[in-house]
Amino acid sequence: MELKNKVQILDSDSNVYSIIEKITQCRDQEDPFYICDLSRIIWLYKNWKKFMPRVKIFYAIKCNDYKAVLETLAAIGVGFDCASKEEIRKIISLGVPPERIIFANPAKINSHIQYAAKTGVKVMTFDNESELYKVKKFHRAAELLLRIRYDDVSATFILGKKFGANPDIESWNLLRTAKSLDINVRGVAFHVGSNCKNHIIYRQAIAAAKKVFDMAEKFAYKFTILDIGGGYPGNSSESLEEIAKYVNQAIDEYFPDDTVQIIAEPGRYMVNTAFKLVTQINSKNIVNVDEQKIRMYYVDVSIYNSLISTIFHDHYDCKAVNNVGNKVYPSILWGATQDTNDRISPTYYYLPDSNIGDWLIFEETGSYSLSRCCGYNGFPVPNVCAVIKKNDWLMLKNQITNPSSLNNFELCEPMSSILEETIKSCTLTRYF
Ligand SMILES: Cc1ncc(COP(=O)(O)O)c(C=O)c1O
Repeated sequence: MELKNKVQILDSDSNVYSIIEKITQCRDQEDPFYICDLSRIIWLYKNWKKFMPRVKIFYAIKCNDYKAVLETLAAIGVGFDCASKEEIRKIISLGVPPERIIFANPAKINSHIQYAAKTGVKVMTFDNESELYKVKKFHRAAELLLRIRYDDVSATFILGKKFGANPDIESWNLLRTAKSLDINVRGVAFHVGSNCKNHIIYRQAIAAAKKVFDMAEKFAYKFTILDIGGGYPGNSSESLEEIAKYVNQAIDEYFPDDTVQIIAEPGRYMVNTAFKLVTQINSKNIVNVDEQKIRMYYVDVSIYNSLISTIFHDHYDCKAVNNVGNKVYPSILWGATQDTNDRISPTYYYLPDSNIGDWLIFEETGSYSLSRCCGYNGFPVPNVCAVIKKNDWLMLKNQITNPSSLNNFELCEPMSSILEETIKSCTLTRYF
C-alpha cells in the first residue's frame, strides 16, 4: 500500500503523537518525515475568523505549498497570495477561481504578468514606476494595489528593505504616473515584516494607508481594497488576539464603510504549528567544550532539506520521542550533510541522554521549511504524512462548494488500522 501523498483520517483514539510513535516503531523505518495536521490548519482559520471577521485571508503560498495544505485551504474558501507564474499555476490547478488570487510580488517578471493576464488574475501589487509601464504593456485589465512601506523594526524579517513605496511623496508620484497611464489602481497594500513583534504597528500602518486612500481621491481614484499583508505569529506561545485588537480598532476608525474590502496575506500563522519534523539520531559523540561534556548528535535532517530557517534566526524546539529521562544535558544537533554550517541551532539543546536510533521531534516546522528545501549532499527532502480528524473531514466535505476540490484529496481511513497493518506486514516494514 502506498501511503505517501494521501491524507489519512484520524480515528478517535489517535492523535498526532500516537501516529508519530507508531510510525517510528515500524521496522526498518529510518527516513525522517513531517507530520502535517490539517485539523490544526482548519482551527487556525476559524480562530482568525473569530478574531478578525472582516479580514479575508489570502494565504501566502511561499510559506508552505504542500498540496494537502493548499487543498484544505482552497476547500474552506481561503484566497491565495502568489509571487510567481508557478505559484499561480498551482492554485489555478486546484480549481480556485482567479478572483481568489492576488499576485503580490511588487517586482514581476514580464512573462509572469502575461500569465496572470491569460489566467484572469487581476489584482497585483506594485511599488515603483517601471512596474506601471510593464502592466500597461502586458495586462491592461490589471487592478493594482500600491504597496507602501511601513516597518516593524523588531520583526524577524524586515521586508521594507526590499519593497514598499514611502507613503508620502513616492506614493503621490506613483499615483500621478498611474493616472497618466490610465491604470486601474484599486487600493493599498503593506507588510509590516515577518514575525512582527510590535503589534501596534498594524494600527499605525492602517492609518498611513488611509492617508494614501485620501491622496488617491485627488487623482479621481476610488480605492476599495486594503491589504494588510502578513507578519502574524506562527508559534503556539503567541496569540493573534493583540494584533486583532489593533487591526479591528483601526479598520473601525479609518475604514468603517464595508465597501472597502480588507484582506491579509498570512503565511506562517496558517501553517507553522501544523507541522512537526521527526528525525532519527544516526551518530553520537561526546566532546569537551570549556571543561563541560557536550553531547553531539548527528541527525538525518539538515538545514538544507528541512531546517533552513535556523540560519535566518528561527529556532525550533526539539524533544525526544519516548525518552522521558528527567535529566537533560547540553547537546549540539548536527545536520546530516558534510557542511560544518549544517548545525541545527547555534545554541545548545537540552535533551535527555540519547542514542543512535532514537527519534527526535522538531516542533512547529510548517513555515518556510518544506517550500525552501533541496536534496543537497544526497539527503532528500523528508516525506509528509498528512492527517485530519474525522469531524473536520466531514465538515470540510459539507462546506465545499466546488465538489471537484474534493477529488484532490486522496483519503484513506482509519489511520491506526493502516499502521497496524504496516507494522505487522512482512513485506512493507517501513512506513514510507
Ligand atoms: C508579500 C508577502 N505577503 C505575505 C507574506 C507572508 O508573511 P508571514 O509569513 O510573515 O505572514 C510574505 C512573506 O515574505 C510576503 O513577502
